[in-house]
Formats: sequence, C-alpha cells, structure tokens
Amino acid sequence: MRNTEKFGLVSLPIFIILYLAFTIQVHVTLADNYVPTENILLSCGGPPVTTDTDGRKWTTDVGSKYLSATGNSKTSKAATQDPSVPKVPYLNARVFYKNFTYSIPIVAGRKFVRLYFNPASYAGLNPSDGIFSVTVGSYTLLKNFSAAQTAKAMNCAFLVKEYSINVDGATLNISFAPSTKAPKAYAFVNGIEIVSMPDIYGSTDGTLEIVGQKSPFYIGNSTALENIYRLNVGGYPISPSHDTGLYRRWEDDLLYIYGAADGVSYSGYPNMMIQYPPSMPTYVAPLDVYSSARSMEPNAQINVNYNLNWVFSVDSGFSYLVRLHFCEIRSIITRINQVVFDIFLYNQTAESQMDVIGWAGVKLGAAGKNGVPVYKDYVVIIPNGSPQQDMWLELHPNTVEKPTHYDVILNGVEIFKVNDSNGNLAGLNPISDVTNPIRDRPPSGDGKIKSRKAIIIGGVSCGIVLVLVIGFFLIAASHRWHGKDSSARVVSLGWHQELERGFTKNLCRHFSFAEINTATKNFDEALLLGVGGFGKVYKGEIDGGATKVAMKRGNPQSDQGVHEFQTEIEMLSKLRHHHLVSLIGYCEENCEMILVYDYMSHGTLREHLYKTQKPPLPWKRRLEICIGAARGLHYLHTGAKYTIIHRDVKTTNILLDENWVAKVSDFGLSKLSPTLDNTHVTTVVKGSFGYMDPEYFLLQQLTTKSDVYSFGVVLFEILCARPVLDPTLPEEEVSLAEWAAHCHKIGILDQIIDPHLKGKIAPECFKRFAKTAVRCVADQGIDRPSMDEVLWNLEFSVLLQDSANESHKGIGSKIHIEEVPFVPNKWKDDLDASPTFDGHRESTC
Ligand SMILES: *[C@@H]1O[C@H](CO)[C@@H](O)[C@H](O)[C@H]1NC(C)=O
Ligand SMILES: *[C@@H]1O[C@H](CO)[C@@H](O)[C@H](O)[C@H]1NC(C)=O
Ligand SMILES: *[C@@H]1O[C@H](CO)[C@@H](O)[C@H](O)[C@H]1NC(C)=O
Ligand SMILES: *[C@@H]1O[C@H](CO)[C@@H](O)[C@H](O)[C@H]1NC(C)=O
Ligand SMILES: *[C@@H]1O[C@H](CO)[C@@H](O)[C@H](O)[C@H]1NC(C)=O
Ligand SMILES: *[C@@H]1O[C@H](CO)[C@@H](O)[C@H](O)[C@H]1NC(C)=O
Repeated sequence: MRNTEKFGLVSLPIFIILYLAFTIQVHVTLADNYVPTENILLSCGGPPVTTDTDGRKWTTDVGSKYLSATGNSKTSKAATQDPSVPKVPYLNARVFYKNFTYSIPIVAGRKFVRLYFNPASYAGLNPSDGIFSVTVGSYTLLKNFSAAQTAKAMNCAFLVKEYSINVDGATLNISFAPSTKAPKAYAFVNGIEIVSMPDIYGSTDGTLEIVGQKSPFYIGNSTALENIYRLNVGGYPISPSHDTGLYRRWEDDLLYIYGAADGVSYSGYPNMMIQYPPSMPTYVAPLDVYSSARSMEPNAQINVNYNLNWVFSVDSGFSYLVRLHFCEIRSIITRINQVVFDIFLYNQTAESQMDVIGWAGVKLGAAGKNGVPVYKDYVVIIPNGSPQQDMWLELHPNTVEKPTHYDVILNGVEIFKVNDSNGNLAGLNPISDVTNPIRDRPPSGDGKIKSRKAIIIGGVSCGIVLVLVIGFFLIAASHRWHGKDSSARVVSLGWHQELERGFTKNLCRHFSFAEINTATKNFDEALLLGVGGFGKVYKGEIDGGATKVAMKRGNPQSDQGVHEFQTEIEMLSKLRHHHLVSLIGYCEENCEMILVYDYMSHGTLREHLYKTQKPPLPWKRRLEICIGAARGLHYLHTGAKYTIIHRDVKTTNILLDENWVAKVSDFGLSKLSPTLDNTHVTTVVKGSFGYMDPEYFLLQQLTTKSDVYSFGVVLFEILCARPVLDPTLPEEEVSLAEWAAHCHKIGILDQIIDPHLKGKIAPECFKRFAKTAVRCVADQGIDRPSMDEVLWNLEFSVLLQDSANESHKGIGSKIHIEEVPFVPNKWKDDLDASPTFDGHRESTC
C-alpha cells in the first residue's frame, strides 16, 4: 500500500519530526492510495538512477529497451542550468533530429503520460529551433510545439504536460517528430512518466452535461484528456508523491483568483472528521484538497455584491472537462440551505443552487453533513476564436433560496482539455502578453460590476518545485501516518508554493486622483495611518466601501523620490505572495505619486513590540509572524524569476493583517540581482541604521545575505522588544544586534528578552530561535544562513515549542501555550550537546 523505498529521504530525524507532528494531529480518516501497476519514470539522457526533489526515483533511457533507433537521437546536458530548475529530470535531455519513437510495454488500460521539458540549449542547438510534434497512437498531444516559446509566455523555466490516454495494446508508443516546416527544427524531451490510473475522469458516474446547452457529452475509452489546471483551492501545493498514488501535482489557486477580493481560505481545518462517501474512491483527490477551501468574507452584505472568481486561460476550439471538488469544512455549516450558491463557467450558468451539504447527502444516501468530500463535473465548449481565451469560474451566493449564510465554498479544481474529433489535443503556442491586463469583472450572475486586476497565465501547468523540507506537515503527515511501523512520508512545505512561479504579469490598477480623493475624504488627517520616508499613509475605501486600502502619498520633497515610487510599482505589481503586501494600484496625476495597497488592520509589527499601548504579543504569535515574514523574504530571494533583495527589512516594514498574517512591505529600495547568492550588486548604500549589514556598509556589495542580516536583527527585536539602536544605553548595549550576539555568546541572552516572554518560551525552542538569529547577524555574509535555512529553523522552533506544550499536557488537562514552565538554566547548557533532530545542525545552527 505504502511505498517506503521510494522515499529515499525518509530518515530517523524526519521520523521523529513526523512523530511530533502526529501528536498534534487533526482528525481525518485514512485515505487509501491507488497502487498503479505501472509507475515508470524515464530520465531521458540522464544518469542511470537519480532521485528528484520529491523523492521519486528516475532511471535513464540510455540503453533501455524502450528505444529503437537511437541513431536518430543524441543525449545532451543543458548548456545552462537556471538554479531554480531542479536537476532531475531537467538537467539532461534526449534530442531528436528525425522522427523517433519510445515503445514502452504496458498492460492495456488508462495511463497518465507526463512529459517534462526544460527549454535550454542542448548540443549547441538554439532552444527556439526546438519545434516538434508528439503523438501517441491516434492522438496528437503536441503539434508545432515550442517549449521555449510556451515557457516564455508563461514565465516558467520548465514545463510538465500531463495526458490521460487509454491504451488498447500492449505497447505505448510515444513518437516525437521535428517540425517539417522549420529547416533547423529538432525535438527533445527531458523526462517521460507513465503511471497507470483508474478511470476516474470518465462518464462512468452518469452522463456529463454541456454547460449552457443541456445536451449530454460522453467521455469514454476513446477520449484522451490533457490536464491543464489542477488546484488545491485555499490550500498549499501538493507534490506528486503526496497525491493519492496517481502522482498528480496540485497547485495553490492564488495565481488564478481574479481580483483582490479573494475571500477567506481555510487550511487544514482542525477538529473536522473528513469522511469520503462509500461510493467515492478515496484516491479521487487527496484529503489535503478537501481539508482546505476558499469561501467569502463573513460579511453577507459584501458577499451578495461580488463573485469569487478564478480565470483560466484555455486554447480555443476545444471542449473542457471541469471538475470542482467540494467539502464543507466549517463546523458551523451542518445543514442544507445554510450555504447555497450559483456556479458560472465561461459566463454561463453551470449550476444554480449548489448546496454542498445537500450534495453530500445525495452521495451518502442519508442526511447531508459537513466533512464529506464530493465533486461535480461540467463540460464547457470553448468555440474558435483567438488562440487562447479566458474561461471564468465564478461562484456567487444564491439569494433566491434565502440561505442562512450568503457565502460560497470551493476546495479544488481540475480542468482537462478533451481531444477533438481528429484525436488532437494540441493548441497553438501561446504568445507573451505584453499588454497590461487590467480588466473588468464579467457581468454574469447578479453581482455588481467591480473593476479588478486579473492574472493571465498560459494554459499549461508550470512545474513547481516542491523541495523536501518539513513544515506544513500536520495535515499531510497525519493522515498518512498509520502507526509506528508504517512508512513516513516526507512532507512538502507550503512555503515553497511560490517557487518557480516566476513573475506574474504586471497587474496594477490605475486610479484617478479624483478616486483617491474620494477614498481618503480629501486626505482627511483623521484617516492618517502613519508617516514614512516616502510620505503620508492614509486609510481609505474603494469600490463603494467594499475594499479597505492604505494609500501612500508621495511627498515631492522626500528624498525617496520618483525612482523609489517606480521601483515599488515595478516590483510589487509583478509579485504576488501571501506574505508580501499587495499593491492594488497607483495614481500618477497632478504631480502626485500615490500607491494603493491592501489595508493591514493590525498595522506594523513594531507597534506591537515596544513603546506601545497595545497588549504584548504571545510568543507563539511572534513565531508565526517571524515565519510569515521569512516566507515573504524567501520568496523574494528565490521564488521569482530574478532574485530580489529587499534592502530595508525592519519591523516597521512588516505589516500585520486582521488575522495577524505577516506581510513584507516597502519595496522602494529593492534591487534585482542577476542570480542567486554567489554574486552581488554593487550599489550606493541605502537602508536603515541598526539593521544594516556591516559587510554591505563597508564594501557596498549587496547580496541576499544583507536581508538575512537585517532579518536577524528583526528576530532579536521581536525577542527582546527594544529599539535596534538605543543611544540612551551604555555603549556596548546601543546596538541590539551586537549586544544580543554578545549576550548569547556568554550565555545570558535569556536575561535581556522581553519581560512579557519570561517563562513562556520552551527552552529547546529558545535555543533554536536564538541560534538562528545569531547566525543571521554573523559579520560575514558567507557565515549567515540562507532565508531557506532561517525559515526551516523557525518552523522547527515552532515544533519544539508545540512539542514542549504537548508534553506538558496531561490527559484531560488543557495547558495553554503560555503556561509552559521556564527553565532558564537549561539554556546555558552547551548548545551543541542537544540531540540533532534535523541532520542540518552543521549547516544551520
Ligand atoms: C474501457 O476500457 C476498459 C479497460 O481497457 C475496459 O474494461 C472497459 O470495458 C472499456 N469500456 C468500454 C465502454 O469499452
Ligand atoms: C508554428 O509555431 C510558430 C511559433 O509559434 C508559428 O510562428 C508558426 O506560425 C506555427 N506554424 C504552424 C503551421 O502552425
Ligand atoms: C509501436 O511501435 C512498434 C515499433 O515501432 C510497432 O511494432 C507497434 O505496432 C506499435 N504499437 C502500437 C500500438 O502502435
Ligand atoms: C515524421 O512524423 C511526422 C508526424 O507524425 C510525419 O508527418 C512525417 O511524415 C514523419 N517523417 C518521416 C520521415 O517519417
Ligand atoms: C477523441 O479521439 C478519438 C480517437 O481519435 C475519437 O474516437 C473520439 O471521437 C474523439 N473524442 C471526441 C470528443 O471527439
Ligand atoms: C465573459 O465576461 C468577461 C468579462 O466581462 C468578458 O471579458 C469575456 O469576454 C466574457 N466571455 C465570453 C465568452 O463572453
């Protein structure tokens, strides 16, 4: 059932961590995974056996029985290797100058065929000459396909194409044919994956209906499908080895949400028993998909006035199978007619009065209840038109049925292209969209029109790297954990969700000065939120009060001038991340420079630390804030196409939203760096004193490690709750970073921490946290950890805190996190004597 051997990275430390994770589990039923007969991973032109970042083993195609005429092909290593592209299977490729067929013996039946492409230069060839077609039996999967052009249009470094094909015979033939139209054309592929699959996407479960036509549609053995989107809505990405044995990759949905009104996401909802209906195989979708969801805000008045929207770019002239996954995971929603909503696809009504509890009842053959996963399939026909069109998925509360809550819910989406009558699945190569895609919401449903920014992404799924680190293990680990003897899976981390996303396109809204004036009531001083280097920040409301925003009004006399204004727009409009503050738009009119952001109701982190009337933040919350901010920075450093150095990391640039989610802000000083850590940008020194990397200050060489230094100072500031520079103190104490590092060295750091935290930090957690902070403020960048490591250590600190709390929790007693006894002497123990849980000790702390 479970395959330990596949996960080479499972080791004792991880075992222990998963064990800890299990002790803080949520209640989910165990899902049985599918066990594929065939599970073939071919690394084309690669080394004999390699393991990818997901722990799956690839074997080379060199000398394999699958190749016939190798003379027509050549193996080659990518001439350049983008550091964000995983080596397996993308480093090596097989290049074909003539038609070439892989013949893979299999058992007849339906298979997932996944093709992996990294459009680099191979064997001295120009990537843009890689134009070819791929066929399997009577199906054309790709035609006149340019991986380079597709990847460029999508801002991806590499691509994975997934098909589902029923194979009658005993051989699966995959044929590559270089284009006959282009004289220098060649074909290539980096990896081929074949996984047998059950027939879960066919018409077996009743007839499918075409949206807007009420006519039936049949998907059977002769239909081939191409998966183009697969999203874990409101949740984290799921890597193939964490799927249900089908090795599908689930992305999160953030990039596809249309507009700033992205509702509320519920992730890993606790205390909810998730129970699949008996008629539904548990491998249809993983529990992680059903245990996270997105719904609307708690305000019914706002909800009736908008739709929760996602936009998917699809190829014209094809039919699409759209599968929506639902599971009501909110404990207050238990009965029918509490949440009822309408579903629109491609501007047509796909479903009116969707009631997830009601549908669960149908599937159970009993009274509906929450915690029951269900799904619904729809077929959408996209007529001919421009090469790609947008398919909108819109959910709107149904008011006709007068449900008790005006709300909607969605847990997952899968979209498949269906082969046309010629057996073709290939569309035209997408073209980079250089225009600024500011568009209006579609006028469907009874929602009012609101102008929103959109994200347009090409129709192929971008490979997402899921690096194996421990983190968001709770849900993922617990339901796969089956007693001591069972195989523990290495669980992927949510914060890698943005890796390899690349920049999304510029999606900034333009405001008129009049709109800004209305929103801020003529820059009413009563709405003033603060004053920064750039100018004053006001609170405002746009879209008729539906959205609260913060408006930063540039001060023409400010030394942070036009350049910073433009940098901020440039940077933020291309980036989107849960832990970066979102720029909604800007106004550049009447010599005014105004930036409009999402409003962060809890303000800056600083104002919760010291010199404040606000209640002190509990330790656990501080840790979560640190992790959030670290994720934001980690994303800047590695998640986008280019490395971005923030340059001004400090507690006033870490903002907190109404749920205390930390968001990194203020990109006015940010710099793009050509590659990762090993190079630097030489630049005029800017930043804030007290946080500034001494190496950068001396050498004027900026690297991501400069941000790590500043972040280390932030960690100490959070721990000690004092200003980073306090000239009123004795000389050796003025600089927090130096003083804290000194105190750590002589073992008295616990004496200078925030008095509110005394006795509330678990000793192991404190050790880990302090050591991380100390390493961040090392004099030389080379001695500092990367944000990746920092994040890992912070995650680990939380785990240590939680496990300390757990171990103090007797049966039936409830010990609050703040009540863990404090044992100061233990901290002074030799830190290195502590057991290594992570196998990272040398390189991390
Ligand atoms: C479809 O294929 C499967 C396996 O190849 C077979 O068992 C099933 O009978 C086929 N269905 C139809 C309708 O031909
Ligand atoms: C093939 O693709 C290239 C690049 O997208 C395009 O310029 C060309 O027109 C296409 N040719 C055909 C026959 O579709
Ligand atoms: C696959 O290719 C082999 C050799 O090229 C051929 O003999 C065989 O008939 C093909 N099988 C199918 C199902 O097309
Ligand atoms: C190569 O394959 C393509 C597409 O399948 C076909 O049109 C072409 O005739 C083939 N060329 C040769 C030389 O077999
Ligand atoms: C898909 O292709 C198969 C085989 O070429 C064909 O029989 C079938 O009708 C096609 N499906 C659709 C929906 O056109
Ligand atoms: C759906 O509505 C959007 C927004 O008004 C519009 O841009 C799009 O063209 C519409 N799509 C179709 C197929 O009518």
